[in-house]
Amino acid sequence: MTGNHRQPEVNIGLVGHVDHGKTTLVQALSGEWTDQHSEEMKRGISIRLGYADATFRQCPGMDAPECYTVEETCPDGSESEVLRTVSFVDAPGHETLMATMLSGAAMMDGAVLLVAANEPVPQAQTAEHLMALDIIGIENIVIAQNKVDLVDADRARENYREIEAFVEGTVAEDAPVVPISAQQEVNMDLLIQAIEESIPTPERDPDADARMQVARSFDVNRPGTTFDGLMGGVLGGSLTQGRLRVGDELEIRPGRRVEEGGQAEYLPVTTSIRSLQAGGEIVDEVSPGGLLGVGTGLDPSLTKGDSLAGQVAGPPGSLPPTWHQFTMDVELLDRLVGSEEDIDPISTGEPLMLTVGTATTVGAVTSARTDECEVKLKRPVCATPGAIIAINRRVGTRWRLIGIGTLTE
Ligand code: GTP
Repeated sequence: MTGNHRQPEVNIGLVGHVDHGKTTLVQALSGEWTDQHSEEMKRGISIRLGYADATFRQCPGMDAPECYTVEETCPDGSESEVLRTVSFVDAPGHETLMATMLSGAAMMDGAVLLVAANEPVPQAQTAEHLMALDIIGIENIVIAQNKVDLVDADRARENYREIEAFVEGTVAEDAPVVPISAQQEVNMDLLIQAIEESIPTPERDPDADARMQVARSFDVNRPGTTFDGLMGGVLGGSLTQGRLRVGDELEIRPGRRVEEGGQAEYLPVTTSIRSLQAGGEIVDEVSPGGLLGVGTGLDPSLTKGDSLAGQVAGPPGSLPPTWHQFTMDVELLDRLVGSEEDIDPISTGEPLMLTVGTATTVGAVTSARTDECEVKLKRPVCATPGAIIAINRRVGTRWRLIGIGTLTE
């Protein structure tokens, strides 16, 4: 871990096939291990969504790419200059966790696609993750050709050509391909340079209303905590616009589920911000970038076990509407990613898994036309008209990405 505690200003997804080296790369760049979701880390409102921060630095007087580093001390003993702190969102490569990848993508400003040099290109999730980036509109991509230490130079070149052929015509067509070994920490400087050049920090309106995508929620109290020692519910997620300060009022939508006479409905909840954590520090104010933890005045039973994950928070009255059903314009893929199978049109009555922002919900299709369909959601979502929706269909035993929707009304 670097000794710098600046708040991260940009979220970079790490995507790619299982075992291609995402966790190892994050460790090489930040000294942190993202595979840890231990109870210990959740306490004291420390939040993890497979997240780690890295501070990129530059050694003055040195040429590129050698000047790029994560070390505080340069080879000549001088101190390196901070360029920026970035946050890596670790996307699980296991096929069943595609929904987690898609909802994580709602918080990514750019992505590093890892491709292992010692396997044929593309592996199943390499293709599916790239399609997901394409669909969600993440255009700033760097491709890391990992594990080059395991292959000879000829195979590395051949693999490079396979990667180039695979990304042709996709959102990653012009992305730089950087050969690295995450494990041996080879070419980390080149990779940092590529990220600095290809994944800029987005411009943000500091005066916009705060909008937080909630990705996780917790009860951080140890069992048996007495009333006076009880901490309010904690939200973990990412701020996509505006700022949050301790003391601010916060509304969360769709809110809490209440059941009356066998009917379930969702009521927005309001609370105030008691504490904020960002970049591993307790702070008074946060701006977009990285993952933040928000300590609230909510009853912790409302937030425990990720029960508010997928919801949206912001100043009361400023949030988009809650949808129990909606109409979406639909654009289906030509065929299932990584297969020759055609995609049948969506039919009335079929269940779809929809990812809207960080929310994942199942919807039943109530009316299907060629380019448009209406869905009734099992769990409502809070979203702006125009929101992008990743559409998944059950194929065999798993949900497969079949297309993209745009929320119309
Ligand atoms: P998931 O999180 O399960 O999707 O896997 P991952 O993509 O995070 O892969 P991980 O970093 O766990 O690496 C998988 C295996 O590959 C581990 O045994 C690593 O030590 C190894 N590995 C990662 N990078 C390299 C590399 O550059 N060279 C070599 N030789 N091995 C590597």
